Amino acid sequence: MKDLIATSLKYQSGQLLVLDQHQLPHNEIWLDCQSVPGMVSMIRKLQIRGAPLIGIGASLLLADMAKRGIAEAALIEAANTLRAARPTAVNLMNCMDRMVSVLRDRGPAAMMQEAELIFEEDIALCERMSLLGADLIRPGSNILTHCNTGSLATAGVGTAIGVINKAHAQGKDIHVWVDETRPLLQGGRLTSWEMKQLGVPYTLICDNMAAMLMAQGKVDTILVGADRIAANGDFANKVGTYSLAVNARYHKVPFYVVAPYTTVDPACPDGSAIPIEERKAPEVQGVSGSFGDVIWSPEDAAVYNPAFDVTPAELVSGWILDTGVFSQADIDEGALSSFRL
Ligand code: MRU
Repeated sequence: MKDLIATSLKYQSGQLLVLDQHQLPHNEIWLDCQSVPGMVSMIRKLQIRGAPLIGIGASLLLADMAKRGIAEAALIEAANTLRAARPTAVNLMNCMDRMVSVLRDRGPAAMMQEAELIFEEDIALCERMSLLGADLIRPGSNILTHCNTGSLATAGVGTAIGVINKAHAQGKDIHVWVDETRPLLQGGRLTSWEMKQLGVPYTLICDNMAAMLMAQGKVDTILVGADRIAANGDFANKVGTYSLAVNARYHKVPFYVVAPYTTVDPACPDGSAIPIEERKAPEVQGVSGSFGDVIWSPEDAAVYNPAFDVTPAELVSGWILDTGVFSQADIDEGALSSFRL
């Protein structure tokens, strides 16, 4: 099969490689991924991350295991283990279900072709969302974004960052406010890196500065990604997204969520049914890096560290999906509950 090359994931000469996102932006280190425990650990540590990308990476791993002759029962067990590695993002579950149904219907030999299809499809989905979203961006806009939703989080140009990428390429003279995104600083480390690579003018801010910028009229549009969109339009994304949406409504700033159909969960009626992953205390008590660990709180400080929050549909100005830009009225008519899978 041909090599599959994305910014942070490669299947090259029969080897699955993951760009260690912990090391960015300072070091570009590729990790070999051959085992289910290895992939689960990388997902949990956010070395591979982004709702679409973890689904694609897990699919390629399963396909590679099938190619290595691993028995059908073990492949199904592996899919179940991978499926549970990240409870909030539905893309991973959708991909695992898709790979298992190919295994059952067409056999292990068909799995690599399916994983390749999932990879290529994501590139096309990103392209469509990005172009649809770019049409909504006015020249000279100041766009605020949260977390990282670009080529590090997908196989293609990304979701919210895909829109930024296209608007910039269309010469719209945009500027981006990059939320640093607590607790793991995916904005500060990864989105800043992507803006720099794309040549998009950007300014890094702390998450708690966004409301002030909106009050000063310095934000025209907010674009975020999603880890799961429920049938009623509520959606889960990196923690802090909900505060942005509340502030956007108060300050009358348009707030869009950008995601492919693989992030929609028609079986999930509303946001209260989305499981929220909780992470460990040290991510909030301090910081870790190549310099070692720094703890700034008392070592026994009690910590609550949900990785995601849920934004209610009523705060969303529009859902930019690969099939079009949906309004609240479209969603009330069931646009998401009958979504294709
Ligand atoms: O926990 P992360 O870094 O994977 O969080 C990512 C997000 O919040 C993204 O918005 C989401 O996964 C969509 S990425 C296209």
